[in-house]
Amino acid sequence: MTLPAFFYTVFESLPRQGPGCTGASRKAFSHLPPIPADAKILDIGCGSGTQTRDLAALTRGTITAVDNHQPFLDSIARWAGKQGMQGRIKTVCASMDALPFENEQFDLIWSEGAIFIIGFENGLKTWKPFLKKGGFMVVSDADWFEPNPPQELMQWWEKEGYVPASEDEMKERVKQAGLRLLATERLPEAGWWDNYYVPMLARIAELRKTHGTVPENAAILDSLEHEAETYRKFKRYYGYTFFIMQKV
Ligand SMILES: C[S@@+](CC[C@H](N)C(=O)[O-])C[C@H]1O[C@@H](n2cnc3c(N)ncnc32)[C@H](O)[C@@H]1O
Repeated sequence: MTLPAFFYTVFESLPRQGPGCTGASRKAFSHLPPIPADAKILDIGCGSGTQTRDLAALTRGTITAVDNHQPFLDSIARWAGKQGMQGRIKTVCASMDALPFENEQFDLIWSEGAIFIIGFENGLKTWKPFLKKGGFMVVSDADWFEPNPPQELMQWWEKEGYVPASEDEMKERVKQAGLRLLATERLPEAGWWDNYYVPMLARIAELRKTHGTVPENAAILDSLEHEAETYRKFKRYYGYTFFIMQKV
């Protein structure tokens, strides 16, 4: 899927490109047994790398950060250089459905807020071969927090081209992908609101002044604002859950 360039104008300067928070990443990581000191870690759909930096702090291994947007990767490489971590953090520009890696290379695959791009079960199945036997996969994705979501919310998700499943359905998909579920962990509301929508809405207000007269750009800003409003209105019904899994 190719996104309009203006989309990246909105997202490039944001602290995160999807809902998340360091506390939740740490909590998800805490469900894993100790991983080797020289672990090879793959961070898929890394964006500008907030969770890459979290993983760098949580582990001593090497991290390969993958995204299909090179400027995000450049900002990670700049950060790694400043931290003297260029030996530990490598970036690869590639599509998550055609990753340029050999099978059974990684001890841990991590992906926050990105697996929806190729679908949860498809993503698990596509990425699993890259894990060593006994390796771990941690992904966050949207699911229903309550049954019977209102029609208006269902219609919004359908328009987005993606309808969440219940946590039980997601667990079934983990099983279908042949992975063992170790734990789940819900992302707290601050991960959506404080870390994602608050900076995004500020960026939208700024961009309306400079780019808002171009109809295609205004439509993107409107749709992102509507997404934030949808979350504000319906947040009790859905959210992100981390699925912490192992290849057995
Ligand atoms: C919702 S953002 C999440 C970014 C980051 N993980 C975070 O939580 O801040 C999804 C990321 O996936 C990247 N992406 C989109 N399609 C992709 C693809 N086919 N292959 C690799 N990355 C992709 C986008 O550039 C973006 O950085």
